[in-house]
Amino acid sequence: MSKLIYVTRKIPENGIQLMVDKGYTVDVGEKIEKPTKEEIIEALSQKPYDGMISFLTDPIDKDIFDACKTLKIVAQFAVGFDNINLDDAKAHSIVITNTPKVLSLAVAEHTVALILALTTRTVEGDSFMRSGKYTGWSPYLLNGTNLRGKTVGILGAGAIGYEVAHMLHFGFNCPIIYHDINENKSFEEKFQAKFVDKETLLKTSDIVSIHVSLSPSTKHLINKDSLHLMKKDAYLVNTSRGPVIDEVALVSALKEGVIRGAGLDVYEFEPKLSEGLVDLPNVVLTPHIASASDNARKEMSRVVGENIVSFFETGKAINEVKH
Ligand code: GLV
Repeated sequence: MSKLIYVTRKIPENGIQLMVDKGYTVDVGEKIEKPTKEEIIEALSQKPYDGMISFLTDPIDKDIFDACKTLKIVAQFAVGFDNINLDDAKAHSIVITNTPKVLSLAVAEHTVALILALTTRTVEGDSFMRSGKYTGWSPYLLNGTNLRGKTVGILGAGAIGYEVAHMLHFGFNCPIIYHDINENKSFEEKFQAKFVDKETLLKTSDIVSIHVSLSPSTKHLINKDSLHLMKKDAYLVNTSRGPVIDEVALVSALKEGVIRGAGLDVYEFEPKLSEGLVDLPNVVLTPHIASASDNARKEMSRVVGENIVSFFETGKAINEVKH
């Protein structure tokens, strides 16, 4: 049966094609930058859309559902869905789906890239060269530290945490410790990983890598107190969601040498950065691109397309988010 689908921004064509092949009409928002909530509402009010594809930059709540009473499914083009008000979705009987697993490898590789950029001081070295400061080899120029054998603390042992642990345990012989709401036996067996409480993880890790989803219970999971528990020469890496870290507290900790450095792909007030962050030499900053490999984006497109088709053809979405 023909369906009307709205996509707020352009995605790789393969996912759209899956829906077109089923006879669905797919309208795609024309803006490259994120649409405002008003623009999304305006677009959705034009036709009786059955489904929509959203991004983590789209605020999805009752205002959206009220603007389009025919909407039955929102397929989020991301693994995280903290931009969607699940209570409102439930109240309006809207099915929400996400794109787990297909981006885990990309995010894990980006996480390891941030860790290596910190330990090898690659980005500082690059800026140094570009600013013409290099006058010749010196034994003390930008000394970093070896990654091999360093204890890595994984906060959140889901699919992305699993890939990060895999790369660091097998590639760099790093002992892995982890904390999560539940113990994960297969994670422990695979990486000889030890389950510890959050405090022990912060106190004993050389590198803390965050892989939790954002919820009221994980907001400011890393705050001033937790930063002060960390080793002075430890690094903090976040490729999950910005508000998991109290960014103002992080800037102070980095300035005061409470920890050695941080690698961030996500920001508390994204796209704004907390004051002082860009002036720090001991941070590596990337613009929320951890999942931005061609492979992952194409797979994410396939998954949103398949979820919508599956929902309308079989009555059941594949990656339904429980609410
Ligand atoms: C990216 O941040 C995602 O949640 O997919």
